[in-house]
Amino acid sequence: MPSRIPRRAPTIGLRLVPAAPEVWSDPSGRAMTKHPTMLTQAHRNAAEHLFTLSEKDFIMADKTLDDLFHDTLRDIFYAEKKILKGLTKMARAAQLPELKAAFEKHYDETEGQVERLEKVFDIIGKRARGKTCPAIDGILEEGDEIASDYKGTSALDAGLVSAAQAVEHYEIARYGTLRRWAQMLGLTDAVSLLEATLAEESATDEALSALAEQMANEKAADAAA
Ligand SMILES: [Fe+2]
Ligand SMILES: [Fe+2]
Repeated sequence: MPSRIPRRAPTIGLRLVPAAPEVWSDPSGRAMTKHPTMLTQAHRNAAEHLFTLSEKDFIMADKTLDDLFHDTLRDIFYAEKKILKGLTKMARAAQLPELKAAFEKHYDETEGQVERLEKVFDIIGKRARGKTCPAIDGILEEGDEIASDYKGTSALDAGLVSAAQAVEHYEIARYGTLRRWAQMLGLTDAVSLLEATLAEESATDEALSALAEQMANEKAADAAA
């Protein structure tokens, strides 16, 4: 009833202000303005949806390649630190001395890669800070699973190589992208740093493939024969 309509519109989740108030008549014929509180729930849902969309669009429009570069840098910074722990575990678990040595060598390289990333953060004037990377967490968890499920078996080393190569491939994807974005952003010093790491990741991947082909896969296959 008109007498029960509050004078001021309460806030209903978001401020609804009709562009042109609708005019209607009550039963006595008096002209009344349709109050925002009288909008149907469907109207409110539609308005809220539009509001959310425009807010998102605004945020998305405000992000650039610089933001992507920074976010991805934080992703790989987090990943490298987790990989240091993963390599320690894999080196401890490996049976073949050659594989153990390969993991230890890459551990040392990875420490240098973390330092390179700190320099890249410095170049873009940002604090070196990681951002949780669920992908590397998952890849490393699978490595832990292999180490535990195949412990003491002939297939362990082949499994560890496969887990380590999944890590390297993730890193190669990330560094390849970062290098390209650094080129586009004109970050010449960052390009050199990222390229140096990308070369180490690729060399590690190749070394692991060679170890698998020459030793680990054979050992697992021979035991099966
Ligand atoms: Fe790395
Ligand atoms: Fe690596």
